Amino acid sequence: MKNIILAITGGISAYKSAFFARLLVKNGFNVRVIMTKNAQAFITPLTLQALTGNAVHTELLDTSAELGMGHIELAKWADLVMIAPASANTLAKLSMGVADDLLTTVCLATTACVLICPAMNQQMYAHPALKLNLQTLTDLGYIVIPPESGEQACGDVGEGRLPEPEQLLDFLQNFIAKQQKSQRLSGKHVVITAGATLEAIDPVRYLSNHSTGKMGFALAKACEQLGASVTLVAGNVHLPTPFNVARIDVTSASQMLAVCQMLAGDKTNPISVFIATAAVADYRVKQQALQKIKKTTDALTLDLVKNPDILATISRENPQIFSVGFAAETQDVETYAKGKLIAKQLDMIACNDVSRTDIGFGSDDNAITVFFKGSNTKVRLEKTSKDKIAEQLADLIGKQLAKKFTFVG
Ligand code: PMT
Repeated sequence: MKNIILAITGGISAYKSAFFARLLVKNGFNVRVIMTKNAQAFITPLTLQALTGNAVHTELLDTSAELGMGHIELAKWADLVMIAPASANTLAKLSMGVADDLLTTVCLATTACVLICPAMNQQMYAHPALKLNLQTLTDLGYIVIPPESGEQACGDVGEGRLPEPEQLLDFLQNFIAKQQKSQRLSGKHVVITAGATLEAIDPVRYLSNHSTGKMGFALAKACEQLGASVTLVAGNVHLPTPFNVARIDVTSASQMLAVCQMLAGDKTNPISVFIATAAVADYRVKQQALQKIKKTTDALTLDLVKNPDILATISRENPQIFSVGFAAETQDVETYAKGKLIAKQLDMIACNDVSRTDIGFGSDDNAITVFFKGSNTKVRLEKTSKDKIAEQLADLIGKQLAKKFTFVG
């Protein structure tokens, strides 16, 4: 987020924009300035040109500009647009989608975030029409930086002062940091197994467990919100699919493995992160009965064979994938979890104590302890909703991934 358009509209606080432009340049931003006609009555384009090292953009229909940085190009160039100060007139136009000058046109044409810093007389700022326009702009996705209260250039005292340039920079840097954090998994394909597998005994009976898929589905939502493209491989799960998440339903462990291997082999959409929250049945019957087994005997012995370990297989066959396991244990939880971290060649493991009825299987809450490959660090995520645990875990995965690729790549 380095390319910033600083847009200046007509207002006495436009003089602060010059200081702000200087601060932006000093802090490593590439700054291009747009000035409205009224802004130029308060401060000259030449000042801003000298401070930013770039020609200032003032005209919508400027033939020379259209050849170089026309309004569409300018809109595409920007990672971020910041309007400081933003006059009541410009706010009204933006709220209506009017595009009658360069600034308003660029705001309509850009996909970048637009931050607006309203600054005006306190009476104007208090006007219901202005408040309505600000609300509309917020609803449209513009970010409003509230003005300060205090003595104004006109002598009035009240809300409407443009914050000082240092404060504007602080807000901007904070905003960018949050944006970057919120996109921690951007460009990553995350595959998550969730829920219980069902292992048929005969056409009407099966072996399974109590997993509902809540933990896995919460993680799918959290990873999607961090910018990942997410595929859920779901066992026996009766939950709605989270927004913008692809879902493949399977029944047995063998099917779950086949789907995961198919996804891992897809070179057009390689998996970056594999998270196994599924409670895979460890055994299946050796020979599934083709017809319903009759109750002809007092006792029935089932001959079971071990199911493939999906997580271990995926991580062994694809060491480039960042693999995350879950350990469900009822005793010696941490010891067993650390053992699985090594045995299954994982990058991370989250263990939960499934002997507790208030967390784990079926519950809306969970509490986990996370261990990392080659490290003694352990992170404890205290009991809270599975949604919150998922957000924290997705964030941890994003951080670990960043570290891994910083050191390795
Ligand atoms: O679905 P919920 O009701 O929300 O409950 C969540 C949960 C308790 C199921 C979840 O938090 C959890 O702990 N999932 C892992 C359950 C489990 O099978 O743990 P495990 O310790 O047996 O297996 C270790 C890891 O290997 C797990 O990541 C598991 O998905 C994976 N595994 C296990 C066996 C197998 N055949 N294939 C696997 O991939």
